[in-house]
Amino acid sequence: MLRKLLILFLLLVLCTATTLAAKIITLPKPTKSGMVSLEESIDKRRSEREYRTNDLSQDQLSQVLWAAQGITDSSFGFRTAPSAGALYPLKIYVIKKDGVFRYLPDGHRLLQLSEEDKRPSLLRASLGQGFIREAPVSIVLSANFSITQATYGARAFRYVCMETGHVAENIHLQAVALGLASIPVGAFWDDVIKKVLELPDDEDPLYIIPVGYTK
Ligand SMILES: Cc1cc2nc3c(=O)[nH]c(=O)nc-3n(C[C@H](O)[C@H](O)[C@H](O)COP(=O)(O)O)c2cc1C
Repeated sequence: MLRKLLILFLLLVLCTATTLAAKIITLPKPTKSGMVSLEESIDKRRSEREYRTNDLSQDQLSQVLWAAQGITDSSFGFRTAPSAGALYPLKIYVIKKDGVFRYLPDGHRLLQLSEEDKRPSLLRASLGQGFIREAPVSIVLSANFSITQATYGARAFRYVCMETGHVAENIHLQAVALGLASIPVGAFWDDVIKKVLELPDDEDPLYIIPVGYTK
């Protein structure tokens, strides 16, 4: 009897894990026009270190992710931010109270990877920078350097870092245009972030970007 119950429990765990692994969320369509000019966004952008706990709407999240890596050319798959050789070595993770998600530019979707609120672990991994726990969303940019290395060899390191900057700035400016704030965070323990987010071995985290309403 006990054995049967154990098998049933294991099956249930397996089913839940499979369902979660396959959970894909289609994001709302991003808008291509806004109320705030590009010049105003550039002027107002500031690294903010105090956030209210208010959640972002799905529309806001969709817009920020589109600005980061949305596909803007359906023929060639080019994206909002430039990429050396259009190789796109960057991955985007979204960390919220309801879990961890990976952004899928193709189809503008989110793939849910975990249902756990990993913001407290993210905070510890980033030397206790408290705003990471407060902000409703943190975006982690990670890179698979080998994708760019295969074509560009030793120059890949600088190319991937440059691309990360392009993506980050798009996020910052889009956040301002939506009445939100953000901050680029580079100070964290890489190995701890990799463990917390269960990143593949060939991916390295480069930036954490909390986004939310400033106080
Ligand atoms: C590569 C990089 C890493 C950064 N890392 C951190 C960080 O770990 N924590 C932090 O509070 N700010 C960080 N910042 C934000 C800078 O402190 C901030 O950009 C600078 O003070 C200028 O202010 P501004 O962004 O509001 O113009 C980082 C900025 C860059 C470009």
